[in-house]
Amino acid sequence: MEVVIVAGPVEVGAFAAGRIAEIVAAKPDAVLGVATGSSPLETYRALAARRDAGLDLGRVSAFALDEYVGIARDHPESYHAVVDREVAQPLGLDAARVHVPDGLSPDLDAAAEDYEAQIVAAGGVDLQLLGIGGNGHIGFNEPTSSLSSRTRVKTLAPRTREANARFFDSPDEVPMHCLTQGLGTILDAKRALLVAQGASKAHAIAQIVEGPVSSMWPGSVLQLHRHATVVIDEAAASELTLTDYYRYTVEHRNIVQPDA
Ligand code: GLP
Repeated sequence: MEVVIVAGPVEVGAFAAGRIAEIVAAKPDAVLGVATGSSPLETYRALAARRDAGLDLGRVSAFALDEYVGIARDHPESYHAVVDREVAQPLGLDAARVHVPDGLSPDLDAAAEDYEAQIVAAGGVDLQLLGIGGNGHIGFNEPTSSLSSRTRVKTLAPRTREANARFFDSPDEVPMHCLTQGLGTILDAKRALLVAQGASKAHAIAQIVEGPVSSMWPGSVLQLHRHATVVIDEAAASELTLTDYYRYTVEHRNIVQPDA
């Protein structure tokens, strides 16, 4: 994995937005995988600023990682609503090209299969943006998720429901289930870009970057990806052991570019 350590959350967002902008500049109809949660918000802010400066995202397609099951689309915390509010609107995406799993489908297995088919029909994801849960989940692939899983129904871990309770009026309101892209689905993206900031993510980052590939730390599956980048701030990097090496490799980034 490419590990990039920057000063703080704003720098994380600026770096990630730069990578995304490069992809869109080269391919204006790029397919982006987008994440919810607080981690990527600075990235979206930085991208919106680039849009103000002339970056056109109007032909970009977006696929969300996940959606709660059984939550109305117009609920402000449904991922349909979050993706619209935090991503599609500020970035000027075409609503017809923004996709979120259908957590209200009467046949969730069929909805999951259909979502996989939509990603394939769009030509696959060019860059998947990811956050990470404190327990190492990416998307909603909780610990013990199959490393080759596809989009499917998952039960949220108690720790995830507790973490996401801040978005709801009461902890009981946090849905129990979700539809999430699988770890295998995420691995199929041509590039993966994980952003994290703050000390609360430091342990998960150390596990997924320097620990073994393990379904107990689902983000560690990115070690199997050819082009995975982890962009973190100093606080999120605080439990890594090879930080000097990661900083040193930054010097070489302009010389040795990953192959396409
Ligand atoms: C959420 C999402 C993930 C996200 C993670 C971390 O519930 N399903 O995609 O990366 O939990 O959230 P946050 O960035 O708010 O810490």
